[in-house]
Amino acid sequence: MCGIVGYIGTQQAAPLLLEGLTRLEHRGYDSAGVAVIGGSGVRVAKKAGRVRDLGESLPKRFAGRAGIGHTRWATHGPANDVNAHPHTDAEGRVAVVHNGIIDNAAALRAELIEGGVELISDTDTEVLAHLVAASTAETLEERVAEALARVEGTYGVAFVHADFPDRIVVARNGSPLIIGVGEKEMHVASDLAALVRYTTTVAHLDDGEMATVTSAGFTTYRLSPSGPSAVDRRAAAVDIDPSEYDAGDTDSFMHKEMREQPAVAERVLRGRLDERFGTSHLGGLELDARELRAIRRIKILGCGSAYYVGQMGAALVEELARIPADAEAASEFRYRNPIIEPDTLYVAVSQSGETIDTLLAIQEIKRKGGRVIGVVNVVGSAIAREVDGGIYLHAGPEVAVASTKALTNMFLAFALLALQLGRVRDLSLAEGKELITALSDLPDQIQQILESEEKLAPIAERLAEAASLFFIGRVRGYPVAREGAQKFKEISYRHAEAYQTSELKHGPLALISTEVPTVAIVPDDELVERNVAALHEIAARGGPLVVVTHDGVDLGEVVKGDCHRIDVPRSVRALDPILLTVPLQVLAYRAALHLGLDIDKPRNLAKSVTVE
Ligand code: AGP
Repeated sequence: MCGIVGYIGTQQAAPLLLEGLTRLEHRGYDSAGVAVIGGSGVRVAKKAGRVRDLGESLPKRFAGRAGIGHTRWATHGPANDVNAHPHTDAEGRVAVVHNGIIDNAAALRAELIEGGVELISDTDTEVLAHLVAASTAETLEERVAEALARVEGTYGVAFVHADFPDRIVVARNGSPLIIGVGEKEMHVASDLAALVRYTTTVAHLDDGEMATVTSAGFTTYRLSPSGPSAVDRRAAAVDIDPSEYDAGDTDSFMHKEMREQPAVAERVLRGRLDERFGTSHLGGLELDARELRAIRRIKILGCGSAYYVGQMGAALVEELARIPADAEAASEFRYRNPIIEPDTLYVAVSQSGETIDTLLAIQEIKRKGGRVIGVVNVVGSAIAREVDGGIYLHAGPEVAVASTKALTNMFLAFALLALQLGRVRDLSLAEGKELITALSDLPDQIQQILESEEKLAPIAERLAEAASLFFIGRVRGYPVAREGAQKFKEISYRHAEAYQTSELKHGPLALISTEVPTVAIVPDDELVERNVAALHEIAARGGPLVVVTHDGVDLGEVVKGDCHRIDVPRSVRALDPILLTVPLQVLAYRAALHLGLDIDKPRNLAKSVTVE
């Protein structure tokens, strides 16, 4: 949530800052701003709206070879020019950009106002500029450290100061901060996406650390009550293909990322399948067979789509390993004083590895002595570092707010985990081998579904015209319905409600009409007849239907009414959910495209949710 960039070197900072912000815009896009240090001190330009609006409104002479920038997702105060970052002190000598939340902002604001400071924004961040400006310590580092010592909450911050034009001072506590090393120039960012065009040699700050960044290099410190003390942190090359951060010739990152699914699915499976023993190898779990056998329960925690795929994962574990498993919204977990059991394996699932609700759930479990593994995409992210072991998704950078390829790989990671857990229990060698074959077939099957995009487009356009729709499924189809509804509302702004098919007649059937379509998940499983019966109940009330099913499933008289069917390739039953999910991504995408919406940056949302 929110993005930070910084530059210091031999080039003009503003164009580089704007370029970096464009690459971070998925993290927050309601306003943006930059500050540069030039001959006339610190100059700030900021604006509600997109980075391109800021670029167009930038004063002609906005010179400076050092600067900071920010793209915002509002937490304190509306998205307007004044609340946009950077924030400055009254004289405009200090400028700061900030990601995170200052919990004691109200108290600090009150104290500053009492001291005669005029605060002009509604933000928590503005206090930082005033605290640094008020400090009389000798160095900028000491002034920043002094200010941060007053702050409770989370931050990734970058400061520039007119009296110290040769440096940017950055710090981190709970919000990522990366330093990129160039030739006689240095970059700062909250996300690699902003850096890869310039450098892939980077250093990550840890929580509780700060750094001085000059054009010649950087120095790191640990923040402590007695002031900053030097700590040695080196930059290292990261193995990343910068082109992964470009949308290429597609209209959106979502489209690009959906289409990458077959390739990234192969990547998450690569080297992890053991055909001889019909099992999987997951070295990162740091659990041997004895420890795996001792697990009595699995609890999966994630938010949004990660939570829904967690439900799919729990079903996989129960089905293949016969271990009781369930998923819960990480955002709720720690507030119900959860009972942490020693023989439960807790699994935190997150694409970004930054979601604060998931991170706090992990910390609650660890505080109570529980063991947590992560299912995470971003290597070295806060969650990846917090857990006791885990499975990386290898999906590559996911930029679109709507998660697609990471979600598919989460499902596959759960399948690998369930397979391994099953094989140290009662899953037979033959069953293990059958699952491996089915897993290996999935990338091609996903490709097949993606190739039907043009056929799905008219169905999506029809759904896009409805103000309200249902997504229904049961047992392993229910989380698929939840994820389908999530994707649809996220990018199409249509009211899409997920329901268990079996529960429809206990209330929501009252809403079914010719105006309210239902997308029904009907795999060819043990529930197919009951599911088809529910379709008849909907059709009898004139409800339009889109049925995601398998070839050969007899939908009966339903097909004579307002009904479209989408057949997906068959897998083993346990793996069906992911193949049933992919067409729902396509439907959501094509609906949003039809409506002319900004697919990658849906209103009010941001890619990583780093605030509670
Ligand atoms: C998915 O399309 C959503 N953007 C959202 O629900 C997301 O899955 C959720 O915020 C969790 O994010 P994470 O995987 O980065 O933790």
